[in-house]
Amino acid sequence: MTTCDYESGLDGIPAAQSRISYVDGQTGELEYRGISIAELAEKSSFLETAFLLIWGYLPNPEDLAAFEYEVIHHRRIKYRLVDMMKCFPESGHPLDALQAAVAALGLYHSRRALNDPAYIRRAVVRLLAKIPTAVAAFEHIRKGNDPVRPRDDLNYAANFLYMLKEQEPEPLQARIFDLCLILHAEHTMNASTFSARVTASTLNDPYAVVASATGTLGGRLHGGANEEVVHMLTEIGSVENVQPYLDLQLAEGNRIMGFGHRIYKVKDPRAKILQGLAEQLSEKYGCDRYYGIALALEQAVEDRLGDRQIHANVEFYSGLIFRQLGFPADLFSSIFAIARVAGWLAHWKEQLEANRIYRPSQIYTGDHDQAYIPIAER
Ligand code: ACO
Repeated sequence: MTTCDYESGLDGIPAAQSRISYVDGQTGELEYRGISIAELAEKSSFLETAFLLIWGYLPNPEDLAAFEYEVIHHRRIKYRLVDMMKCFPESGHPLDALQAAVAALGLYHSRRALNDPAYIRRAVVRLLAKIPTAVAAFEHIRKGNDPVRPRDDLNYAANFLYMLKEQEPEPLQARIFDLCLILHAEHTMNASTFSARVTASTLNDPYAVVASATGTLGGRLHGGANEEVVHMLTEIGSVENVQPYLDLQLAEGNRIMGFGHRIYKVKDPRAKILQGLAEQLSEKYGCDRYYGIALALEQAVEDRLGDRQIHANVEFYSGLIFRQLGFPADLFSSIFAIARVAGWLAHWKEQLEANRIYRPSQIYTGDHDQAYIPIAER
């Protein structure tokens, strides 16, 4: 390999062969297992989509019912895990708490029986079932309250909203949240998925795989961006301030959160669907002041950066919707993780099917033949 082969950030370098999802960044198309996300958003549910991603086909009614039943019956988390979370600092970031909780799940369930389909199935079910419970539990614990137990009669999305707020959500809220989960479930070789595959390639257990991916998700350039979007909209404060804010940020060389993407050269297809959902929420529950600011900001960014192919990404409108659903901003990336665990698990399984440990090379740019200087002489 020569230096010309090096691409910063592995830009354009394939890191795996995958059948899980497909994205065309020029036309703005995204498919899970060959099905467009627009169609899945219209017709599917999150758990059905997770099944599709992980097992590669749409479940028949019996398969789906069995899968939903298993997930419902693994929603509870051990009291020791709750006790552990009670020892976390209240000021800790929820995604860090989730990463620790997922790693701790591995303490109870890791067998590294990676050739055993029953172990793989149980790990998939446990992770999908318990992660929402852990996210909701830490939200209560950090406020000094006991976690709310999951409700077996509620579907995946409604149960999470119930556990978080201790109040049954309205059907529209539950459906919109389920759609958000579908739209965040998978997105080819992004940073956290790459992280999941690297950990998977060492043949570590799926809890370690999901814990490492969770850590990678949290940064502000990846899944942490939607939290920043809400802070940014708060700072902007009014439609009148959009243009001065944008001018100042760009003059100072700052990035506008929720815009730009390594792959998309057009508006992210997920952002388009999410924008429609944000509109629906605004219509039903009264226009959100932030929605007007967001629309004005998107237009202003389009005018300034559109010709550089910088457009709204999934994080821009998801931050807005999560706020409309009443989630605190620092919970957004954990909610992203609830969805993305489906994609990480699909990539874990696929990696195991034709595994070779990831071991890229590097281009050494340091010195050679340096003398060791004794400490007293430095
Ligand atoms: N605001 C202003 N300028 C931007 C933005 C932005 N949001 N995004 C990219 N640019 C500019 C960069 O400054 C750079 O300009 P330069 O060539 O003059 O230096 C150019 O566009 C290319 O940027 P890169 O960082 O090389 O693009 P990359 O593909 O590496 O980064 C990323 C993609 C990280 C998403 C970037 O667009 C960004 O930082 N966006 C803001 C954070 C964000 O919204 N992240 C969520 C992404 S979606 C997800 O992870 C689920």
